[in-house]
This record gives sequence, structure tokens and C-alpha cells, in this order.
Amino acid sequence: MGVSSKPFGVTGDGAPQVELFTLTNARGHAVRITNYGAIVTGLEVPDRDGEVADVVLGFDTLDEYLASHPYFGAVVGRLGNRLAGGKFTLDGLEYTIAQNDGPNSLHGGLKGFDKVLWQAEGRETPDGPALVLSYVSADGEEGYPGELSVRVTYTWANRDVFRVEYRAETTKPTVLNVTQHAYFNLAGAGAGDVLGHELQIFADRFTPIDETLIPTGELRSVAGTPLDFRAPHVLGERIGADDEQLANGGGYDHNYVLNSADGSLARAVRVVESTTGRAMEVWTTEPGVQLYSGNFLDSANVGKSGKTYHKYYGFCLETQHFPDSPNHPEFPSAVLRPGQTWRTTTEFRFSAG
Ligand code: GLA
Repeated sequence: MGVSSKPFGVTGDGAPQVELFTLTNARGHAVRITNYGAIVTGLEVPDRDGEVADVVLGFDTLDEYLASHPYFGAVVGRLGNRLAGGKFTLDGLEYTIAQNDGPNSLHGGLKGFDKVLWQAEGRETPDGPALVLSYVSADGEEGYPGELSVRVTYTWANRDVFRVEYRAETTKPTVLNVTQHAYFNLAGAGAGDVLGHELQIFADRFTPIDETLIPTGELRSVAGTPLDFRAPHVLGERIGADDEQLANGGGYDHNYVLNSADGSLARAVRVVESTTGRAMEVWTTEPGVQLYSGNFLDSANVGKSGKTYHKYYGFCLETQHFPDSPNHPEFPSAVLRPGQTWRTTTEFRFSAG
């Protein structure tokens, strides 16, 4: 039980050593995290027979994380998800962020939080082992205003709850949307596609998107659509339906407007993988969650133990403020001002039965 670390390589000549941390909880289950990108590289939980498997997609080596990859296990920011045209206006000033996703900016720009080195400090807490990761993003980094001090605390609670707490402060008014981009397969990373996972999402509405995946601004009822997961449905059941929203997303790549909107830690999603009995609940203080069904994965994504992650081989549940919030004053605000502290919490609660 506790936190241990070992060298994971370097990002370049003369760069500081990157570490790979292992958090082992009282049940003997491990979570592995590197301070490069605050990436969760492995998360081991038992099935109904006590058989442990690693349920997050990722790589065995730092070099593979340094090469291009679709944000496996990383913290994304400053502004996770999409920003239309890579532009926003705040207090009358216009800011431009790199268009790294067609016409839009995605997950913070060219070098977001997923590609920086975080300061890491292991801790033992009564709840379980923890890792505190800190990063100071310079004023103007990637085009965002204000020096932003951000801290992500990962706690691997003894009852197999993976808690992620974000905290940030800024020196100038800025915008923010930090989230965890883990791809899950509760049958084990690389074991197959995730279309058989059963999902229940506690949301009556979602934010419909255009062909570039930018929200139109509407909050639309899920009723009568393939996006309705208010009652449990298997992920693949309706993914091939003839539906404008699924066509725009290339599958599920949508933000759900969570029913619990008061900022308390509330249940957002429940996922069950019936062949292993593994289940995961996502609880969050955030107003939204992005369901992404791994639509852009393809045979180029070769991960841990040489396993290929094909299309639909992992799903993400990115708890968040709504995409493109800076351009939608009607959405919950993603603005952070000096003197304020940004605090959000998300828990991934694992069980088996
Ligand atoms: C997020 C986005 C997706 C995709 C992935 C990374 O989930 O919503 O559209 O960009 O990240 O590939």
C-alpha cells in the first residue's frame, strides 16, 4: 500500500526525469500515473471473480506518449473540448488559440496540459494513496490570458474509488475547462470494442452539435433519440442509427447536460460490463459530461502489450463545462477571475458483481 515511483524516461536532451508513480490501495489494486501530462497510464480493478485487469487504454513507454496520440489518460486544458474558430472574447478583448481540430481549437491548443511536465508529490491519506500534480501555466501560454496555477489531486481510495480534484487560480481573467481523458474498457484495455458496455446517463438533455462538433447552443431533450441513456442501454445498440447527431459526431461525441446542476458531487453515469461484472460509476460536481465512443481510434493506435486499439475500443466520460462555453454566455460560465478559486471534483467508482 502507498505511493512508489520509478524513472519513466526524459522528454528530450537535458530535460528532467519523468516519473511513473504507482498508487496501491488497501485492496492491493494499482493505479499508475506519470507526471508527463498528468497521464493515468494504468488502472487495475477486479472482476466478479477477483480477476484483476487494467481497464484504461495507454502505452508502456514514455516515448509512445511523446509521439502523437489521442489524449490517452491525460488531463486536458486549459480549455478542454472545443472552442469554435479558436477564438473567444472576454471583457472586450479577443483571444486566439491554435486551430488544431479543423477550424476549431481542441483540448487547450498545440501544447496543452496533456503535453507538459507537472510537479508531483506523493501522499498517504486516510482514504488511500494520493498524488498531487501542480503546474504553472504562463500568462499568454497557448494564447490564454493570465498566469494560471493549476493542481490536480488524484486519490486512489481504498474502496476502489479514483478521485480527481482540480483547483486553479489566475492572475488575470481567463477561461478554463479541465478534465480527465481516460479511455475505458471494463473488460480490459485492448480486449475488444466497448459496444457491449451498458450505460446509464443521468441527463435529460444534451448539447446538439454541428458538423465540426461545436454546440449549436440548444439544450435538447434526449427523448426519442439514440442519445437517450436515461434508462440503461448498450452503447452499440443505436450507434449505427440514421441520426443527424450521430453522423455529426461519427458516433457518440456529445456533451450531456447533467440533471444535477447545483455543483454538488452527484452521480452522472453508470457503466456495466456484463461479461466480467465490472461496473463504474462517474460522480461529478461538473454540469456536463462528454460521452465519446472512441470514434477516431484506428489501427494506428497500438497500445500496451502491443494490443491495437481499433475504432470503438475505448470510451471516454469527460466531466466538464459545456464545449465552447466562452462563446455561449447562456452556458455555465467557464470564466475564472483573480481572487477566485476553480474547484471541481470527479470520482470514478469501481465495483464488480
Ligand atoms: C474528445 C473529443 C473527441 C476527440 C477526442 C480525442 O473526446 O470530443 O472529438 O477529439 O477527444 O480524439
